[in-house]
Amino acid sequence: MSDSDWTTSSNDALVLSLVSPSPTGGLKTITTFRPQFTYPIFGDEEQIFGYKDLRIQLRFHASDMRPNVQVTFKDQFQAIGETEPTDIDGIMKEFLPEVAFQKVKSFTAAIQNVPEDWTPPGELVSTLNISGSSTFGVWKGTLADPVVKQIVNRIQILVPLYIEGGTALDLEDPDLDRWTVFFLYEKRPIPGEPNNYTYLFAGYCTVYAFYPFRAPVTPPASPSPEFELGSSDFSLSQLPCRSRISQFLIIRPFQNKGLGPRLYAEVFKFYYAHPQTFEVTVEDPNEAFDDMRDIADLHFLRENLPEFNALHIDTSIVIPKTGFAPKDIVDRAACEAVRQKAKIAPRQFYRVLEMHLMSKLA
Ligand code: ACO
Repeated sequence: MSDSDWTTSSNDALVLSLVSPSPTGGLKTITTFRPQFTYPIFGDEEQIFGYKDLRIQLRFHASDMRPNVQVTFKDQFQAIGETEPTDIDGIMKEFLPEVAFQKVKSFTAAIQNVPEDWTPPGELVSTLNISGSSTFGVWKGTLADPVVKQIVNRIQILVPLYIEGGTALDLEDPDLDRWTVFFLYEKRPIPGEPNNYTYLFAGYCTVYAFYPFRAPVTPPASPSPEFELGSSDFSLSQLPCRSRISQFLIIRPFQNKGLGPRLYAEVFKFYYAHPQTFEVTVEDPNEAFDDMRDIADLHFLRENLPEFNALHIDTSIVIPKTGFAPKDIVDRAACEAVRQKAKIAPRQFYRVLEMHLMSKLA
């Protein structure tokens, strides 16, 4: 028998789902979805050796995202010398908390015990109505909150499955309060139970607060004593910071419904109004995120900053024949003033400005 008879594509074998307790005592599957890629977990070839009809079920309780892994197969390769079947649980243990490897019975019992009035952790910062029929909430908390941290720990496996080049958060970081987490949950009414809702995890975004020593905004003219390092009242959270979006994810069943742009817009709106934040940046955005952000930033600037709409090509500037950027043909001082007010980093701001100016020419 050849090796290929015992080899399975890890992309085909791994199936994710959101589940909830069923009224009859078992599990109810709400939705099932596939990974985007599995190479960060199972290796570049995305192959698992040593099983026939392999299926790896990764279930999440739809509200608190408690995970559970079940590996099933029809037949397993009998080890010959050093050739052994892939240690699936061993590999997945690097990406999931220990609780994921409970027996299904214990998992079912645990999620049956979650109180009926469970709500996402943190504070509800906005409610979104999508297509007039679904309601979503954005909940904000910090990793210093153990419930927020527990959910983030449970979903870190989604990063290698969906974010190319993404890295898991260091949940042992001593400064966990520097991490803000925005959760997106669908709020679904429970049939026959007016005023009772069930919450389904749809996505999340993490944001890290950087405190550079020299911020490009004017700090208080005469720093008050609490700004002095070493003072017992000193608090980092009062200093100007750069807020950096780190992980941003909408899970598969909720993608392509305009939810990513809506969540991003809520996160951006929050930091635009956040007095300490002088700039919002993004860690290693991919193409899909960049496209989404361009449209959302353009929409935000046009709707909220009249001075952005007033920016125009300066006709008094002699345009070079080649090699010029949008920032070369506009009033730089006016642009910088708008950019700093908008809290958008230079590269992103001038990209969006170019889109804006080009659409005016069209
Ligand atoms: N309301 C409704 N629709 C809007 C809005 C709005 N306010 N603004 C823009 N749109 C439209 C856009 O025109 C676009 O349409 P198009 O694709 O047909 O041109 C569309 O909404 C984009 O939104 P969706 O496709 O619905 O976006 P989605 O909810 O799927 O989120 C995302 C996009 C975040 C990339 C998601 O697919 C995802 O999580 N993918 C996997 C993980 C990932 O790649 N994350 C980003 C990594 S980078 C990082 O983490 C920093």
